[in-house]
Amino acid sequence: MWGGRFSASPSALMEAINVSIGFDQRLAAEDIAGSLAHSAMLAKTGIIAEADYQAIRTGLEAVRQEIEEGRFSFSTALEDIHMNVEQHLREIAGPAAGRLHTARSRNDQVATDVRLFVRAAHDRAVAGLTQLMRVLLAQAEHHAATVMPGFTHLQSAQPVTFGHHLMAYVEMFGRDRSRMRDSRARLNECPLGAAALAGTSFPIDRHMTAKALDFDGPTRNSIDSVSDRDSILEYMAAAAIAAVHLSRLAEELVIWMTPQFGFVRLSDRWTTGSSIMPQKKNPDAAELVRAKTGRIFGALIGLLTVMKGLPLSYSKDMQEDKERLFDAVDTLELALAAMAGMIEDLTVNPERMAAAAGAGFATATDLADWLVRTLDMPFRDAHHVTGRLVAEAERRGVALEELPLEALTAVEPRITAAVYDVLGVENSVKSRQSFGGTAPDRVKEQIAWWKARL
Ligand code: ARG
Repeated sequence: MWGGRFSASPSALMEAINVSIGFDQRLAAEDIAGSLAHSAMLAKTGIIAEADYQAIRTGLEAVRQEIEEGRFSFSTALEDIHMNVEQHLREIAGPAAGRLHTARSRNDQVATDVRLFVRAAHDRAVAGLTQLMRVLLAQAEHHAATVMPGFTHLQSAQPVTFGHHLMAYVEMFGRDRSRMRDSRARLNECPLGAAALAGTSFPIDRHMTAKALDFDGPTRNSIDSVSDRDSILEYMAAAAIAAVHLSRLAEELVIWMTPQFGFVRLSDRWTTGSSIMPQKKNPDAAELVRAKTGRIFGALIGLLTVMKGLPLSYSKDMQEDKERLFDAVDTLELALAAMAGMIEDLTVNPERMAAAAGAGFATATDLADWLVRTLDMPFRDAHHVTGRLVAEAERRGVALEELPLEALTAVEPRITAAVYDVLGVENSVKSRQSFGGTAPDRVKEQIAWWKARL
């Protein structure tokens, strides 16, 4: 491609460090789409002849076909996807192919290719998140009133419903979805026509190529257009936050599936056995979703590090964006799909959950609230009285609602038998009617709100 200036071929190591075709061949479809839009524009503006455009167009379609059918042989000597496509086009279309690269550089070409790729990845992430939210909603609806312990510090805190707990994840994945949509809207400007960095002296129509590639319009600054990889970084940042959420849900599945908890089960389709311990059913998929977070963080930190301190405009450093991008995209999509599969497969053991919900004096706050409401005690005093009653129950080895009334009145004489109403977990959960609270009616409202938005 640049033989005019060069008399020797590169050393083998130069080629090895420089070559990207091994991975950027994944951008073939985007590259050809960009070239089709560019060449159509060159013809429309009279920069190239219509006949040359037709030769280029049919040639590019043929190249696309060969790549799709796996008949294309990629060459490392040709460095990257851009030159592989162009060189093969030359073989098919003859000298007309030499006109394709008019008013263009690989710099705006690759910037356009990755934007097209990451734009589609945003759309798939939104779809994957939506699917996960759907299955979470279905389980939440089923279990809007299923009582389980709510935790803080992973210690029993207050009873909640399983539906409410799952809906917390719907909120998180809903924000992930909106982050993906935000960054998609921001990236949808077309860098094509920025050329190497300064624009071009040819009378190109950047609005036409932008429109052909479904962008909202062309980017405004040619230097920025070839310098920036924000669109990838934003995808990765949104993916990293989604991965955090996935990892927390994965971790909870792992905990809930232990025989010690026994809250949920995954079927044989979503578990693995042990080669030595016949009794085991392991939540490997959940563990791997948890672990794959590291790959996505790694991609984000890796590319941030590549971009940091780079002078404008294009530097070859930026070729290092692609493997990270592809890995983050593949990892996020797999993790979202696997998590949706597990959530759909999940069955709940409501008895275990209810029993655990009542353990650990989980209704102590309800007792304190009752003292405030009924006896008009300041909350701090009620907290203290309740603490003494919990200690007494602990000493006797019974639950709060199993303490006889004399034991209660020994600590606070004004307590009456009416207090037992708030000590059961069902009543506790039902009483949490505040907006966003765990009362089944409130949870059903949250579900309905999301259903209308999915
Ligand atoms: N393979 C290159 C990349 O991925 C394409 C752009 C090369 N541009 C250049 N001026 N060498 O970044």
